[in-house]
Amino acid sequence: MVISLENVVAGYGKTPILRDLNLELERGQITALLGGSGSGKSTLLKTMTGLLPPLEGTVRLLGHEMYRLDQAERSALLRRTGMLFQYGALFGSRTVFDNIALPLREHTALPESVIAEMVRMKLALVGLEGLEARLPSEISGGQRKRVALARASILDPEVIFCDEPSAGLDPIVAAGLDDTLRRFQSLFGMSLVVVTHELESIKFLADRVIMLAGNAVVAVGTVEELSKSAIKNVYDFFHRVPPDYVTAGSSMLEWVEKQGEPKADG
Ligand SMILES: Nc1ncnc2c1ncn2[C@@H]1O[C@H](COP(=O)(O)OP(=O)(O)O)[C@@H](O)[C@H]1O
Ligand SMILES: [Mg+2]
Repeated sequence: MVISLENVVAGYGKTPILRDLNLELERGQITALLGGSGSGKSTLLKTMTGLLPPLEGTVRLLGHEMYRLDQAERSALLRRTGMLFQYGALFGSRTVFDNIALPLREHTALPESVIAEMVRMKLALVGLEGLEARLPSEISGGQRKRVALARASILDPEVIFCDEPSAGLDPIVAAGLDDTLRRFQSLFGMSLVVVTHELESIKFLADRVIMLAGNAVVAVGTVEELSKSAIKNVYDFFHRVPPDYVTAGSSMLEWVEKQGEPKADG
């Protein structure tokens, strides 16, 4: 189990956003968090990553009740994870190389020669050999995401959290990024938790989908299972072919959210 949530209420201060969270994420899988804008995807992700203490309940990350750990223990645990945020910017004044090397320089005492080798390996893995010396402004948006992924994975984390990694990318570039995420999972058995509402992306990436609506988890299962869901709105999401799936994804989900009471599914 890479992450488990037991009777968790996630939210901010005294404001609950998601209730009754009981989830178990298995190691080596890609889990997609799906839901309309404002449904709590980022809130759930932050609760899983140790950034947002739950209002109630227990969150376990890699077997540890992370919100009970002291600061040092929690930092050590978080070093075994990587994060790729929606607006997770690179340092604009630093080269691609220095951006990727940052966690190694911060958290290890490795010599520069080893750091250089590790950065080169990661760059090759995300398909960006030779771009070490560029500044973020000198590469494309898709390439910047890959650099961010290289940085997020430089300490060989057991789990990587991604918040809408392909937001703002065109579908071809987004598909390329999906490929790279899949490669991390299949080559290294990494676990990934990916927030996305692109149906194509979900079908390609997700071993398991957690669908949020109406302040709760509305369905959990494989794409195949959710495609057969007895909950009409979940079923419809996986079957309806929108005229332009690139832009229709979120509005369709907003529509799903407006339908009836959410029920647990599997
Ligand atoms: N820092 C915050 N403080 C209080 N409320 C927040 C905060 N961040 C998000 N929210 C609220 O939590 C709800 C879910 O937001 P979020 O998790 O960002 O949704 P999503 O990522 O699915 O778009 C929204 O109603 C939002 O206004
Ligand atoms: Mg979000």
